[in-house]
Amino acid sequence: MSEPVSWRRIGAVLRVVVDHPPVNALAAAVRQGLEAAIDEAERDAQVAAVLIMGAGRHFIAGADIREFGQAPREPSLSRVCTRIEACGKPVVAALHGSALGGGLEVALAAHYRAAAPDAKLGLPEVRLGLLPGAGGTQRLPRLVGARDALELMLGGQPLTAAQAHAAKLVDRLLPGADLEAEALAFVRELLDRGAAPRRSRDAAGLEDRAAARAAIDAARAAQARKAPHLLSPHRIVDAVEAALERPFDEGLALERRLFLECMASPQRAGLIHAFFAERETAKVPEAAAAAPRAVQAIGVVGGGTMGAGIAVAALRAGCRVDMVERDAAGAARGRAHVEAILDGLVAGGRLTAAERDAALARFGSAHDYASLRDADLVIEAAFEDMAVKQAVFAELDRVCRPGAILATNTSYLDVDLIAAATSRPADVIGLHFFSPAHVMKLLEIVVPAKAAADVVASAFALAKRLGKIPVRAGICDGFIGNRMLAAYRHAANVMMEDGASPYAIDAAVCDLGFPMGPFQVYDLAGGDINWAMRKRQAATRDPRARYVQVADRLCERGWFGRKTGRGWYRYAPGGRAGTEDPEVLAIVEAERARAGVVPRAFGAQEIVRRILAAMANEGARIVDEGIALRPLDVDVALLHGYGFPRHLGGPMHHADAVGLAAILADIRAYAADDPLFWRPSPLLLRLVEQGRGFAGLNRLE
Ligand code: COA
Ligand code: NAD
Repeated sequence: MSEPVSWRRIGAVLRVVVDHPPVNALAAAVRQGLEAAIDEAERDAQVAAVLIMGAGRHFIAGADIREFGQAPREPSLSRVCTRIEACGKPVVAALHGSALGGGLEVALAAHYRAAAPDAKLGLPEVRLGLLPGAGGTQRLPRLVGARDALELMLGGQPLTAAQAHAAKLVDRLLPGADLEAEALAFVRELLDRGAAPRRSRDAAGLEDRAAARAAIDAARAAQARKAPHLLSPHRIVDAVEAALERPFDEGLALERRLFLECMASPQRAGLIHAFFAERETAKVPEAAAAAPRAVQAIGVVGGGTMGAGIAVAALRAGCRVDMVERDAAGAARGRAHVEAILDGLVAGGRLTAAERDAALARFGSAHDYASLRDADLVIEAAFEDMAVKQAVFAELDRVCRPGAILATNTSYLDVDLIAAATSRPADVIGLHFFSPAHVMKLLEIVVPAKAAADVVASAFALAKRLGKIPVRAGICDGFIGNRMLAAYRHAANVMMEDGASPYAIDAAVCDLGFPMGPFQVYDLAGGDINWAMRKRQAATRDPRARYVQVADRLCERGWFGRKTGRGWYRYAPGGRAGTEDPEVLAIVEAERARAGVVPRAFGAQEIVRRILAAMANEGARIVDEGIALRPLDVDVALLHGYGFPRHLGGPMHHADAVGLAAILADIRAYAADDPLFWRPSPLLLRLVEQGRGFAGLNRLE
């Protein structure tokens, strides 16, 4: 293995290369190497300047996230950056690929920065519950001003090389064809000019104090509104304020303290769990065991909400897409639907008109299944009805070529039974997209009993191509996500009947960090959809299960939510935000009386505790039954499909953070109200007995 940091003198330039695959993260060995390289540059009288570069696809993608939460190892990155900045000879960083987090902080500590066109410069620490802790909060505002610095650190989105150049973060844009030669030429040019070290700590970006103060105040107000439950955004603003108000070294010391505070917070642990978990979900046995089939031409059956969104996702990934509807009018509607989504993307600046046209040139819409003859993979998104789905699959079996993958987007139905409608069940799989399918990241890959390994591997390869986050799920009613949702809703409904107002429940859940509460979600999705499902399930419902009828009373009145102007909330025509409705509260009261419930008070804390305990318990069942491979798969499904607050890491990670014994004690106490629902999962019982957490199950054997 090569050294993580190596250096070689080329003429008067000491070229330092960071080579620590896969992304040159700043592990302890890299930090030591960088420090040693600067020592070498100062020791060697023949060295006039230093050039720092990264080997492979990236400059440096950041601190080594795997080290976070462990005992700190010297040298700290902050010390390394101070060392680089203090170097008596000019230090130049040449950036390509990712220059993120600590990687950008190294570049900020250097005296000059050059970048290839593919470079991405960002400080995404906020996404991990942290702040730049190696001088970034002090150097960046001095370089580019408080407003741009805050935007970069609070948004977490990287800048392109050209944007960074415009912001004066990069001194020279290089063509990037031969980055090393171009960067060496830039260094020589600096030496020829007699350029001296130019330290970011001395830069004048905060000279306009009034502008900086205004930017800091505005950012503080915006974060109080947007992220009241998060820690690190507020600490970032504090750190930038210190950059304005205090001398550099004092600011650096404060940054360190704030960084350690963030590092110690459970939010940091939750966000980093989310980061790794969403990469782990793609690691499934079938993907390791089999090569995916080639997928280029995609068929979509059904051009409604989901079919159109799926078609757009596939078109944007460069696939050919053929859509099939029931009749010519349906085919025209499906096409119009796809065009409308693409037009929306163009209007929003997320797609160029030329890209839209190119996508449409790869799109066909018909009412004849023959157009699916050459498809490599077909995704069915017709009505949620077993007879309809089986008829579609029988037809696909007839027309599709051997080896084509046949997928269903069903939300709840048994994919084994759908596969049984074909003569080739090994080629059938569930691809459960979420609405809107061209936006939502989650893709549940539902694996029926007879699916071939290479079909599963192909589904994971497709997810990657579409930019989706795949989660493998087994077959049960609702798979992972909707089954968790059902438990969550049940807990919320029973609490409502027992005395909590739906508005108090929504507010408590939003305060936790969900974008919406359960009753707001009913109104958004349309109460009729869930009503139809409840009616379907009525025959098979356990008679001992508590069934709260309030939602049925609303639906009987035609109050389906936003689309009807009334649901749990009242909506002004075209309005999105609802207002509380006293008539709904009266219906809730009447239902409580009918059910013989004596209402009691629920505080916000109890509301969220019950909801989180319900999810942890259902998640444990889902893992125990093998529906999810690991607890982290449940976490990722909830984070990316249901708006579960990312800083909690997901329901399973959060349960571990609270402690499973405490969750179990809660469940036992809640059982008094609803014994059937609050039966502890056998897995939860076992783990508590063994003193273990869910995290221990996240590694596949
Ligand atoms: N520290 C440790 N490991 C890291 C890492 C980091 N900063 N960044 C990425 N990795 C690991 C990933 O976990 C993955 O490991 P795996 O192969 O064992 O699953 C591997 O590097 C490749 O990462 P991946 O994200 O799959 O590659 P990519 O090419 O799609 O994306 C990046 C590359 C750099 C854009 C992306 O990994 C990223 O955003 N990393 C985090 C950057 C960051 O937040 N830095 C600031 C830290 S303070
Ligand atoms: P939709 O009613 O908007 O669209 C269904 C379309 O399928 C209609 O345009 C209909 O004409 C067409 N269709 C029906 N039978 C057909 C057939 N035999 N051949 C060709 N086309 C046919 O429904 P939707 O919301 O897009 O849902 C589609 C599927 O996706 C359902 O299984 C649903 O459970 C699932 N799903 C929906 C959502 C969601 O939020 N809407 C989310 C995930 C999964």
